[in-house]
Amino acid sequence: MRRLIDRLARPFLFSLDPEQAHGLAIKALETGVTPFPPRRDTPRLRTEIAGLAFPNPLGMAAGFDKNAQVPDALLRLGFGFVECGTVTPRPQSGNEKPRIFRLVEDRAVINRLGFNNEGLEAAKARLERRTGRGGIVGINIGTNKDAADRIAAYEQGVHAFARLASYLTINISSPNTAGLRDLQGKESLGLLLSRVCAARDAAARNGAGHTPLFLKIAPDLDEQAMEDIATELAGSAIDGLIVSNTTLSRSDLASANSSETGGMSGAPLFERSTIVLARMRRLVGPKLPIIGVGGVHSAETALEKIKAGADLVQIYTGMIYEGASLPARIVKGLDEAVARAGVANVAKLRDSHLDKWADRPLPD
Ligand SMILES: Cc1cc2nc3c(=O)[nH]c(=O)nc-3n(C[C@H](O)[C@H](O)[C@H](O)COP(=O)(O)O)c2cc1C
Repeated sequence: MRRLIDRLARPFLFSLDPEQAHGLAIKALETGVTPFPPRRDTPRLRTEIAGLAFPNPLGMAAGFDKNAQVPDALLRLGFGFVECGTVTPRPQSGNEKPRIFRLVEDRAVINRLGFNNEGLEAAKARLERRTGRGGIVGINIGTNKDAADRIAAYEQGVHAFARLASYLTINISSPNTAGLRDLQGKESLGLLLSRVCAARDAAARNGAGHTPLFLKIAPDLDEQAMEDIATELAGSAIDGLIVSNTTLSRSDLASANSSETGGMSGAPLFERSTIVLARMRRLVGPKLPIIGVGGVHSAETALEKIKAGADLVQIYTGMIYEGASLPARIVKGLDEAVARAGVANVAKLRDSHLDKWADRPLPD
């Protein structure tokens, strides 16, 4: 039934400008007109990483709920966790519209939003109102494009949200803020990680408790860059890695919009982001938690991320094409796959295809 509603809603939503359709989806979740499925979390799906107990391993990726308007409604769609943001210290309008493009034939999206968001105070106020509601809600933090000290912007985000968020993601991989990805370089990264970890520890001393910090990286990295990131992570107190953000690469695309500038997400990102995930898993070893994201649109693709080394999986673009029933369908499919494999839980399937993915060459 919910799938049928998705199929009926899609032609209407796709007749709208993508940003308008997104606004409508947020409104539908806010007002509760979206049908919510019954929760079907089982012990097989329960996943513990970074001191957090996830009811299932599927999360809403950053960028859908940039201003923390609907985390609870998203959790009710069946997600095991939700990542809001990217939130920057000051409100920011982002790039000129239009700035989101559907690549329908490729089941992909290109966006060049540029961290449009209402700023840290607005998101903080919303999270304060939901205090005590439970559920795992992370906040993805970024920098304003005109910040004098970009690392200080991340420190501000850590101080603002350490008490309110289940975890924080340091996002240095959006391709739509000029120079942001340079923070992934060896020296800048070392300094960034030590400063955000120090800010997190200061917040903990002030009563926030220990807030896990995850680092979100791009899929457009060469071997040396991946090794440098792994080295810096090993020398830091970062709790996990998110692989990956959108890509600047464009290969084998059929849609007219494929030449738009921005970061591409969706099905064509799956291979590249899964190879980078597996290579990072090999480089950082088995202990560091990794969240796999990029091109997941089914239980099979979610499972493949886990087999390539992910502890948890996130989705965004898949929901644009498959609708709001997708998270519950993926969660059910994952549970069935674990039962079929005859293992105790989803974590037991991790790394079973690691070599297959890590040894594959990156696509052009
Ligand atoms: C419209 C749009 C906006 C996004 N905004 C953000 C963002 O603000 N911060 C972030 O870390 N990632 C953002 N992303 C990237 C997603 O979180 C995710 O990493 C990427 O889309 C790959 O996953 P997918 O193929 O399942 O969409 C955005 C993606 C899309 C499509």
